[in-house]
Amino acid sequence: MEQTIQNVVSMPRIGDKAPSFKAVTTQGDINFPEDYSGKWVILFSHPADFTPVCTSEFMTFATMEKQFEEANCKLVGLSVDGLYSHIAWLRTIKEKIEFKGMKNVEVTFPLIEDITMNVAKTYGMLQPGESTTKAVRAVFFIDPKGIIRTIIYYPLSLGRNFDELYRVLIALQTADEFGIATPADWRPGDDVIVPPAGSCGTAKDRMEGKEKDVKCYDWFFCTKPISKDEIMKKILKKK
Ligand code: BEZ
Repeated sequence: MEQTIQNVVSMPRIGDKAPSFKAVTTQGDINFPEDYSGKWVILFSHPADFTPVCTSEFMTFATMEKQFEEANCKLVGLSVDGLYSHIAWLRTIKEKIEFKGMKNVEVTFPLIEDITMNVAKTYGMLQPGESTTKAVRAVFFIDPKGIIRTIIYYPLSLGRNFDELYRVLIALQTADEFGIATPADWRPGDDVIVPPAGSCGTAKDRMEGKEKDVKCYDWFFCTKPISKDEIMKKILKKK
C-alpha cells in the first residue's frame, strides 16, 4: 500500500517518554503514566471484549499478576470497548470460563475503556492493515521513569506468551541493575553479556583475563555469570 501523510500513524518508540493520558478503567480513573511513577508498567491492548483468545490472555495475565507485582510491575489493559462491556466480560470470565486449569479468575488490574480510540491511536495500537475497528495485541514495557523500554506487537489471531513477557521484564531489570546485556534466549541464571570494551586497553585486559569472572571468546564477546539468586534478590520486592 502506498504510504501517504494521512495514513502514516505516529507510534511511540523505544526510548520515548510514554504518552500521557487520563482514562476511565474498571478500577477507577487513572492518570497515565504519572500514577505509576516509580513502578514498571505493562500497558497492553487487546482486540475486543467477549472474544476467546483475549479471554484466555486475561485469565493467564490475571493468574500471573502477583508474580509481576513482586517484580514491581503493574498491569494495565486496554480495548476500544466501553466500561460496561469490560465489567460484564470480566464478570463472565470469573463466573463461567475455565482455561488450562484456571477458573474463578478475577481480573483485578485496570482495564481501560477507549471508545474514542484516543489512547489506541496515540500508542499505535490500531493497525489498519489488520483491523480498523479493533486494537492489535500491543505490549508496552514502561520503566519507573515513564520511558518505553520494549514494544511487542502480535496480530489478532495470536495469543501472547506470558512467560516471555515476564522474561522480558526480568531481563530489562537485570540489564539496569547490573549494567549488562542478555543474550539470545537468556533466562535468569544464564551467563550475561559484558558490554563491549570501550578502549583498546579494556579489550587487552579482558583478553588477558584481568577482569574478575569475565570470560572472553574474543575481545568483543565476553560473558560473566550472575546467579539467579543474586538477580532475584535484587529485583524482587522483599516479602
Ligand atoms: C479473540 O480474541 O479471540 C479474537 C479477537 C479478534 C479477532 C480474532 C480473535
